[in-house]
Amino acid sequence: MAQTHSLFFYGTLVHAAVLSRVIGNPGEHLETVDAILQDHVRLHVDGEDYPAVIAADDGARLLNRPLTDDEASVRGVLVQGLTDDDVALLDEFEGDEYTRSPCTVTPIASSPAPSRTPLQATVYLWTAPHSRLSPSIWTFEAFLRDSAHRWVGVGSENNPDYAEVDRRRQMKGVITPRGVQESAADALEQVDERLEVEKEKLQNHVEHEPFGRALRTKYWGFDPDYVPLNHGSYGAAPRPVMDRFRALQDASIAAPDRFMKVDYEPLLVQTRQRLADFVKCDRDDLVVVTNATMGVNTVLRSLSTTWEKGDRLLCVSTTMRVLANGNHIVDSHPHLELSLLSVELTYPVAHADVLSAVRAAVETASNDGSGRRIRLALVDGISANPGTIVPWRSLVSYFRTEGILSLVDAAHEFGQVPISLRDAQPDFYVSNVHKWGLGHRTAAVLYVDKRWQHLVHSIPTSHAYAVREPGAEGEGCPGWVDEHVWTGTIEWASILSIPAALDFRERVLGGEERIIAYCHGLAIDGGELVAKELGTQTMRNASTEEGELVACMVNVQLPLPAPSSYTPAQRAQIVSWWNRELTYSHRTFVPIFPHDDKYWVRISAQVYTDMDDFRYGASALKTVCEQIRAGAPFRNGAGEQ
Ligand SMILES: *[C@@H]1O[C@H](CO)[C@@H](O)[C@H](O)[C@H]1NC(C)=O
Ligand SMILES: *[C@@H]1O[C@H](CO)[C@@H](O)[C@H](O)[C@H]1NC(C)=O
Repeated sequence: MAQTHSLFFYGTLVHAAVLSRVIGNPGEHLETVDAILQDHVRLHVDGEDYPAVIAADDGARLLNRPLTDDEASVRGVLVQGLTDDDVALLDEFEGDEYTRSPCTVTPIASSPAPSRTPLQATVYLWTAPHSRLSPSIWTFEAFLRDSAHRWVGVGSENNPDYAEVDRRRQMKGVITPRGVQESAADALEQVDERLEVEKEKLQNHVEHEPFGRALRTKYWGFDPDYVPLNHGSYGAAPRPVMDRFRALQDASIAAPDRFMKVDYEPLLVQTRQRLADFVKCDRDDLVVVTNATMGVNTVLRSLSTTWEKGDRLLCVSTTMRVLANGNHIVDSHPHLELSLLSVELTYPVAHADVLSAVRAAVETASNDGSGRRIRLALVDGISANPGTIVPWRSLVSYFRTEGILSLVDAAHEFGQVPISLRDAQPDFYVSNVHKWGLGHRTAAVLYVDKRWQHLVHSIPTSHAYAVREPGAEGEGCPGWVDEHVWTGTIEWASILSIPAALDFRERVLGGEERIIAYCHGLAIDGGELVAKELGTQTMRNASTEEGELVACMVNVQLPLPAPSSYTPAQRAQIVSWWNRELTYSHRTFVPIFPHDDKYWVRISAQVYTDMDDFRYGASALKTVCEQIRAGAPFRNGAGEQ
């Protein structure tokens, strides 16, 4: 018969349901007696439901007073008959803060007298820093009263403290009991195994899941009460991506040098390959940068050496950040007398009208007799506020005929609409992966046409910097990728977990077509529902000739007075009150912005939202708009609580 183990439990595991949840079986093979551990004290761990047990002497020092007899002994249960597998799972559950150590415990009261002789067992003693403990005694009664609901019964499935155990259990066959003297090599093996498990879990996933709220509960870490309608601002990565993210972090913590000198590189190449396949370009035409802003800055500043006196930059954008970048370039080259030519768009506007407005601006500028050329055009892919599709592909192809370079700031595009850089041929293109791509904050792709790669240097300057020559005809520039790989020590996890996001999109969500069809449909229907509820309109040109403005974000007008009817200070008060009121009182959020002297909101449709969420959003918006009309943001103390 295999050897079994006797363990003394004194915290959450005293609860039979918690124990059986952790070992993954009802525990019919176990015997349990109440018992007492002398000369130890049980304290609260800061911010946690569970306690720590440490030697009584240490406890007295921490409490800064002598302990009573009661305090200096810990009551708990002795569980006998635990198997190797049970103990491996318990080790995982206890994590690194505790160490399984030998002890002697005495069975008490309710147990029959003959068995009241001291018994050998093991106990998980707290071996993490004492600074994490609070100087207060932990009791099981208070735990049952205050926190047990997080550990047993409905809703406890998502308690993150069980996640590691569940993962271990899925790794059947590779579980080995982790002894007291576990070596560092074991820890490394474990992170490696975990990475493999994370990868396989997604790659073996065959079922395409239904979209909506149930998907959100299953895969996202949002608070159950939170209604996420603003995917566009920061994105939100699903749990499998976060699991891979954390496994990568742990790998770099377990052996920093191995990770930073050896492991990250092939992972980065794979990541870039997956990204290149996604946006349809050659792998070596693409590097990863922190975000779209960084990508735009990288390009604009790199072109500095190529500006000539009087050059013009064309800006087709409603995004302030884009204009600011253009202005910065103009301002930082005073000796060259550059200038910014901005094409203002007032939405809704048909795609054809965007094109003709841009053509008109280019023609007027070319014929003004100044001889100044338009060197570069900055274009949004999908603009931010309002969130609308910009016909950048047609614009880029027009710019090419005019000899104007194109830089597409497609911060919102990756994952919202299909992308083929091979077809569109922009000169420069950037897009965030952490928004609609479902990667974790932050990572973005920067694509550079082969002809310009030699010009594009990293920010900050990397040790691989060099003056470069263009690649041979049709070839990329050797070395430019290297320059963008390492610009300093960074947390790699958000970049290297991108393949998990792409796997998740394929395996769990069923691929781009399915995702886009759902999100676009929901944005359209959801937007109409909200507009109807508010008695307003969506910002949309629906017929295919005019060109669709809505991808997965829809702009809806608010029933509010014109922005110009408020003072600038009042407008700022509205926004800060809005931010608090929606997030705190309504547990949701959508960004508010003025456009064409009307107030609008931008609502995001994602695979984890459904019409009920839009309905909820509509009613919250109706309420806050009524409050704004009644002057709520301008009352004393509004916006601060
Ligand atoms: C982009 O990244 C840079 C560098 O990490 C950071 O300073 C900046 O705040 C980021 N911008 C946005 C809009 O996230
Ligand atoms: C686009 O839509 C707006 C409002 O729905 C409308 O006023 C405008 O005429 C449309 N554009 C075209 C070219 O039809």
